[in-house]
Amino acid sequence: MRIQDVKILSALPDLGIDRLEGASMSDYTSLGIGGSTDLLLIKRHASIPDLVRMLESAGYPFKFLGGGSNVLIRDGELPWVMLHLVKPEPEVRLDGNFAYVDAAADLGRTVTFCAKNNLGGMEGLIGVPGTVGGALRMNAGAYGIQIGSYVREVELYRAQTRSLVTLKGDEIHFEYRHTSFAHDDIMLAVKLELPSKPFKEILDGIRICNEKRRNSQPLNQKSAGCIFKNPPGGSTGRMLDELGLKGFHVGDARVSDRHANFFVNAGNATAAQMLSLIDTVRERVRESYGITLEEEVVIWK
Ligand code: EPU
Repeated sequence: MRIQDVKILSALPDLGIDRLEGASMSDYTSLGIGGSTDLLLIKRHASIPDLVRMLESAGYPFKFLGGGSNVLIRDGELPWVMLHLVKPEPEVRLDGNFAYVDAAADLGRTVTFCAKNNLGGMEGLIGVPGTVGGALRMNAGAYGIQIGSYVREVELYRAQTRSLVTLKGDEIHFEYRHTSFAHDDIMLAVKLELPSKPFKEILDGIRICNEKRRNSQPLNQKSAGCIFKNPPGGSTGRMLDELGLKGFHVGDARVSDRHANFFVNAGNATAAQMLSLIDTVRERVRESYGITLEEEVVIWK
């Protein structure tokens, strides 16, 4: 979708917003899949309410894109405008055991920055791609830890009231890959409280997690991580593996040979191919195990 409204176009510079016309979402997602649309790069959180008001009154639908590492976006010209937060400098500010982190900050860099300052706890998240905002939104977790455990405060844009809101940690519920944020809340910044630990000790934890990940996940291929959630008490990766689905593909959308719950773009996969692969695999699991898998990846179609 291209913004034609002259009033909006002329207001963007004053709001600190850059527009990339017809940006291909395949360049902004770890899957390398997605159609084209105008991408608005937001440099000031305070501009969001005005921007949203203008887009809504001119009838432009929009979506917020974070790090693009856990999303499957449809092909073709997209029927919405994409909004994206630009990282500020610095992305992280420390005060004792508290880390104040911008939602646009890279998760891995945040974990290492905190580690270098002897703040640990998030070692397991080191290889999780994407932004802190994205991790927060879905309570990203790995190797027994989840980001929600460290959250003390979140600043967000609340679409329901069209305003910027601050929530205390105990006002938010974090569950397995799920949070109590409204579906249209936009994460802006977070205050984390992290345990003090010597850098060397954190580094050892990081090395162990990195190695486990390298051995079990296709890190050098385009993917959005795990496609499905694990069912309670079960393992989707193991089920798909047992069904012999590794290597199964629809065009260039392929079940990874390394971890069966990772679906990779092995060349020029389209969203249509990836969606067809997801549906086919889900159906196979339903027939064989009587379980209907829920997507872990966010799908915009
Ligand atoms: N397994 C197989 N074959 C496979 C894949 C896995 O037999 O192709 C077996 C493994 O051997 C293991 C079990 O299944 O016994 C579980 O596998 P793994 O340890 O890789 O963990 P997972 O449950 O598949 C979860 C998260 C990952 C996270 C890892 C590590 C979900 C859906 N996945 O994977 O998160 O990195 O644990 O903590 O919760 C993601 O969210 O995108 C993601 C990759």
